[in-house]
Amino acid sequence: MWKRTLALTLAASLLVLAGCGSKQTPAPSTTPSTSNPPASSEAPKSNEPKKLVIYAGMMEDHVKGAVAEFEAQTGIKVEWVRMSSGETLTRIRAEKENPQASVWYGGPADAYVAAKEEGLLAQYVSPNAAKIPDQFKDPEGYWTGIYVGLLGFGYNTKMMEEKGLTPPESWEDLLKPEFKGQIALANPGSSGTSYTLLATIVQLMGEEKGLEYMTKLHEQVAQYPKSGTAPGQMAGRGEVLIGISFAHDIVKYAKEGMPLDVTFPKEGTGYEIGGIALINGAPDEEAAKIFIDWALTKEAQELGQKYGSYQSLTNVEATNPPEAFSLDEVTIIDYDLQWAGANRTQLVEKWSKAVNMQ
Ligand code: G6P
Repeated sequence: MWKRTLALTLAASLLVLAGCGSKQTPAPSTTPSTSNPPASSEAPKSNEPKKLVIYAGMMEDHVKGAVAEFEAQTGIKVEWVRMSSGETLTRIRAEKENPQASVWYGGPADAYVAAKEEGLLAQYVSPNAAKIPDQFKDPEGYWTGIYVGLLGFGYNTKMMEEKGLTPPESWEDLLKPEFKGQIALANPGSSGTSYTLLATIVQLMGEEKGLEYMTKLHEQVAQYPKSGTAPGQMAGRGEVLIGISFAHDIVKYAKEGMPLDVTFPKEGTGYEIGGIALINGAPDEEAAKIFIDWALTKEAQELGQKYGSYQSLTNVEATNPPEAFSLDEVTIIDYDLQWAGANRTQLVEKWSKAVNMQ
C-alpha cells in the first residue's frame, strides 16, 4: 500500500496545503569521521567557522548521513544529538541564558512556533529560503520548513492477518474492542509526532470531544514511548498490532524488512512541517547559518532518502522520494500550525490530566 508510483510533486502539495491553515538525554556526540575528508582546498581558513552543535529531530540515520556530507563539504566539525521535539524545547528553554547548540534541525514546526513565542529562536532568512514556498516557513524568518510528513496508522500485516482483523481506517476504528491494549503512540509531551496527533484530534473534534476521545484511546494504548518513531517499530516487532507514527517512518521500517503497512484515517489526518532554525544566542552563529543555508538546498533535502527518510520536500527544485505519500491520495485536515504551536503547553497539560499521566 505504501509503494507509490506517483511521487508527490511540490506543486501538488502546495495546491492542497495552500488551503490549510524521564529518561536522560545523551550529551551531544561527535559524529564518526567521514570516509570523504574535505579536500585540502576546502579546509577552513583560520578565520572561518570550524565547529557547530546541532539538536536534531529527524531519524538518526538521516542526521548522521547529512552531517557527514556537510562536514565533508565545508570542513566544519559538527556535534549533534537526536532528541524528540518536546525534549529539544525543554533543553533549549533550560539553556536560554547559556545556549549550548546553535541549530535546531528537523522535527514538527509546532514546537518551533512555541519556541519562537518564548524568544528561544533567532530570526534568520537564509538566501535559500527563497526556494521554500511561504506556507512552509515562518513569515518572520524564525524557522524554515525542510520537509512534510503525514501521520498514519502502521500495522503489523502478519498479526492482522493471523487474527483475521481489518486494519483501522478511521480514528473511530482505533477504539474497537479488538484493538484494546494493541496500540502504541508516543507521549505527546516528548514527541512532536504525537503532539501532531493530539492537535489533529482537537482540531477535528473540538477540545472537549477531542480530549474525551484521547481518554478513550488511552484505554486502548499499551505503551507511550518517548520518541515518535518507536510506535512504528513496536508494531513491526509485533509488540503491538498498531503503531501511530509518521507514515514515512513506517515505510522506512517496512523497507528494512518489518511486516508493516500503513492506513490513514478517513476523517482526515494531520501533518508536520519539519523545521530548521537558528537558536537565539547561538554560540556558533556563523557556522549555524552556513548549515541552515546548506540544509535548505535541493541537494541536502534530497539526501534524506539515501538514509531512509521519505518525507515530501519543501524546496521547489527538489525531487521527492518515490516512496513519499501523495497528499491528493490522503485526506488531510486543515491543520493550523500557529494554533497548534501556541497551545502546545496547555494542550499537553490537559491531555496529561485527562489520561492521568502526571
Ligand atoms: C521522525 C520522522 C520525522 C519527525 C520526527 C519527530 O524522525 O522521520 O519526520 O519530524 O520523527 O520526532 P518525535 O520523536 O519528536 O516525534
